[in-house]
This record gives sequence, C-alpha cells and structure tokens, in this order.
Amino acid sequence: MENRNRQVLLKRRPTGAPTAADFAIADAPLPDPAEGEVLVRGIYLSLDPYMRGRISGQRSYSRPVDVGAVIEGRVVGEVMRSRDLGFRAGDYVLGGFGWQLYSAVPGQSLLKLDPATAPLSTALGVLGMPGLTAFVGLDEIGKPQRGETVVVSAASGAVGAVVGQLAKRAGARVVGIAGGADKCRWVEAELGFETCIDHRSADLGAALDRACPKGIDVYWENVGGPVQQAVFPRLNDFARMVMCGMVAEYNDVEPRPGPNLMSAVRKRIKIQGFIVSDRWQRFAEYRAMAATLLRSGELKYREDFVEGLDRAPEAFIGLLQGRNFGKLVVKLGDDPTRRV
Ligand SMILES: NC(=O)c1ccc[n+]([C@@H]2O[C@H](COP(=O)([O-])OP(=O)(O)OC[C@H]3O[C@@H](n4cnc5c(N)ncnc54)[C@H](OP(=O)(O)O)[C@@H]3O)[C@@H](O)[C@H]2O)c1
Repeated sequence: MENRNRQVLLKRRPTGAPTAADFAIADAPLPDPAEGEVLVRGIYLSLDPYMRGRISGQRSYSRPVDVGAVIEGRVVGEVMRSRDLGFRAGDYVLGGFGWQLYSAVPGQSLLKLDPATAPLSTALGVLGMPGLTAFVGLDEIGKPQRGETVVVSAASGAVGAVVGQLAKRAGARVVGIAGGADKCRWVEAELGFETCIDHRSADLGAALDRACPKGIDVYWENVGGPVQQAVFPRLNDFARMVMCGMVAEYNDVEPRPGPNLMSAVRKRIKIQGFIVSDRWQRFAEYRAMAATLLRSGELKYREDFVEGLDRAPEAFIGLLQGRNFGKLVVKLGDDPTRRV
C-alpha cells in the first residue's frame, strides 16, 4: 500500500467542453478511518456522462461538486483496514469514493462484492448503475412489446448495450444508433441488434426509414442533438420516448430548441424522463437477473479501460465526444482477482 493518497480535484467549472485545465491532480495524506469506517484502495473508477452536470454548478437533482473538491464517482475497491464489524481487510466493495486512490468511508455506504459472481469491474457497468438504468427505464417506461421497433442511441455504450439486449429479449426488433463503423459492427455482430446506423456518416433520416419501415414504437434517448431530430418525426402513434440522457448536449452553453410537441398530442406519444437513483430499491432484483444472464452468455458487455488515475480527466473529456467504446473505466490499481 502506498503511504500517500492521490486525487483529481475540480479546479474550476468548465464553460462548454471541459479541458485538462479544469482539473487538478494532487497528492494528499492517506486517510485514517474513524470508528464505523473502512479504508478502501480503489481498483476501478467509473466515468459517467452525468458527471458533466455535477461539475457545472447547475441546480439539478443532486448537489454539484464544489470547486476544489474531489470529483465524485463510483469506485470498486479493496478494503485495506476496517473499523466496521461488517467488513475485513481483503473484502471487495462498491461505493462512491470519487476520483482518488484511497478513501475512508462509512461501512454502511458500501456494497460488498463477490468476485465469484462476475469480474469486479462489471459492478460499474453491466451489473451496476448503467445496467439498472436500462432495466428500470425499459420496464417502467419503454415497455417494449413483441414485434415492436425499438431504437436505441449510444447503442454500444454502457446503458445502450443493455437496453437493446433486454428489448430483444422482450421480442422487439432493435435498431441501434452509434458513432462509427467499429461500434456499429460490434452492435450488430456481438449484441445481435437487427441493424445499427452510424450517426456520423449516414443520412440519418433516410437510414432510419430503411431500418424502421414500420416506424418507431420506442425510442431510448441517450444523446439528443441531431439524432433526436431525426428520430422524433418517425415515432408511431402511442410511441414511448424514454428520456434517459442527452449527452451530445451536455457541453452546450445555451440549451438547444427542442422539437415541436404538437405531434406528441396527435400521435399520443409518451415522453418521460427518469433518474436511476430514484429506483435503487430495484438494484438487487436487477443484479440477480443480470448476473444469471451474464454467466450464461446471454447478456454481453464491453469495457473500455484507461490506465491510471492521472488519465481520468482526458478520458472523461473523450467520453463527451464519443471516444469511448463500451463502459468507460479507469484502472486505479491492481485487481488481484483478474491478473492478465
Ligand atoms: N437517467 C439516468 O438515470 C441515467 C443513468 C445513467 C446514464 N444516463 C445517460 O445515459 C446516456 C448513456 O450513458 P452511458 O453511461 O451509457 O455512456 P456511454 O454510452 O457508455 O458513453 C457515452 C456515449 O455517448 C455518445 N456521445 C457522446 N458524445 C456525443 C455527441 N457529441 N454526439 C453524439 N453522441 C455522443 C457516444 O456514443 P456514440 O459514439 O455511439 O454516439 C459515447 O460513447 C447518457 O446520456 C447518460 O447521461 C442516464
């Protein structure tokens, strides 16, 4: 174990696209766990689009990160020292320790992980918050029916890949939208979507017409921007638009105008947003279901690993431009359960 901690701090609030100068990397003393706390060594740090909102200072469903503070984020780690009777050194845990190598946190804020269930890093993606997001959004809002057409944007990403696979299991015909030929190839070949449209190169409207000859019954919105503009007029009567996120617009300084909503009346379209943290009570249910599918090979996933805490800012900047391919994870330290 190192005898110093290392942290990524928010140096200033970004305007538009974040740059490296918005972040500071600093050494700090190793934290000392108080009674009821455990000292955790980070192994994997999750980078997620929602963090763009957290560093912007805008009023939202959650408190922003203060300037000068450690950037928040979910981490899988190993307990080094415990002052909580529920944990001992060597346990693997999931918690919100932020962008740092070590953290002293209350034991009650942690979820214990069993590395025999699945690789530890999956607790940040397919078996973690993004997977739960896909599950609750589809189950409670999208409700895909057999034979319906479901369109998913950011289809190769952490949320999108699970959305499409669960919609297929419900009997729907699934069309992905992703950035670039490699991502599209993977979405079709590995995830088994009917087809995948490259939003960067294709004439999106014409490609959607070809891929969805009967229109679109469920649109899973991950990106907004020009993709949303192309999808919206192609929604069917009684379509559901699951508003999960609009990552293409997170760096905008001014909000973009939305689509005209009169067709939502004429077509009786349901447009509903949701935030996964309102549905944590379904996490155990989702994990049990998804872990079984993962083990049987019926649920596929892809991870994009970046080595070292110092590279987190650059990787996060890339996430907001579509440079990741799969769930973006920063490897903070050695994973004793997965030595390759
Ligand atoms: N509502 C909730 O509770 C909740 C929870 C988790 C996530 N989310 C949202 O779900 C969405 C996906 O998140 P994720 O964690 O699964 O991320 P992800 O899909 O693994 O990564 C983000 C992807 O977004 C696409 N993207 C980024 N910038 C873009 C741009 N300028 N134009 C078009 N596409 C762009 C890229 O995919 P392509 O290259 O394929 O376009 C990129 O790979 C995000 O909007 C996120 O905020 C919401």
